[in-house]
Amino acid sequence: MIDERMHEELNRQIKYELESAYLYMAMMAWFRNNGWDGMADWMKAQVQEEIVHAMKFFDHLAERGARIDLAPLELKKTTWSSPADAFHDAHEHERFITSRIHTLAKLADEVGDYASKPMLQWFIEEQIEEEASTSKVAEDLGRAGDNRSALMMLDRELGQRVFTPPASAGE
Ligand SMILES: [Fe+2]
Ligand SMILES: [Fe+2]
Repeated sequence: MIDERMHEELNRQIKYELESAYLYMAMMAWFRNNGWDGMADWMKAQVQEEIVHAMKFFDHLAERGARIDLAPLELKKTTWSSPADAFHDAHEHERFITSRIHTLAKLADEVGDYASKPMLQWFIEEQIEEEASTSKVAEDLGRAGDNRSALMMLDRELGQRVFTPPASAGE
């Protein structure tokens, strides 16, 4: 049996991960619309990663025979003032997701939900990477400032990112 609060928070996390995917898809659209194809591709990989995250929570609940409830998704923003502005928001969003994961981990300890802990540990480590990668790009873009050729070089570099499904852990 899964603790009721834990059950509710794990369900809620599916929505947060899908909202992450939707936010990054909005950024992908904004980059595409503004001619930053490399950054759009970077975001595409990010969207795919967030869908994998949502699936992990979904499958976890399914495997435990717990009811899965989906909620409507919210999208607060669809336009940014610059590539740096978008990546700054992406980093802020990842910090929020980290706090959500930590809340889940704390709750798992509180209610003794040992079954979710390996998965949550995987997410704790994943979030370190998520924060690091978004903050690195935001920093690089900030440093490039308005220098068009520096921005174009970064765009090309960021376009090299390919999506590799994360190694399954906590399963
Ligand atoms: Fe995520
Ligand atoms: Fe993320």
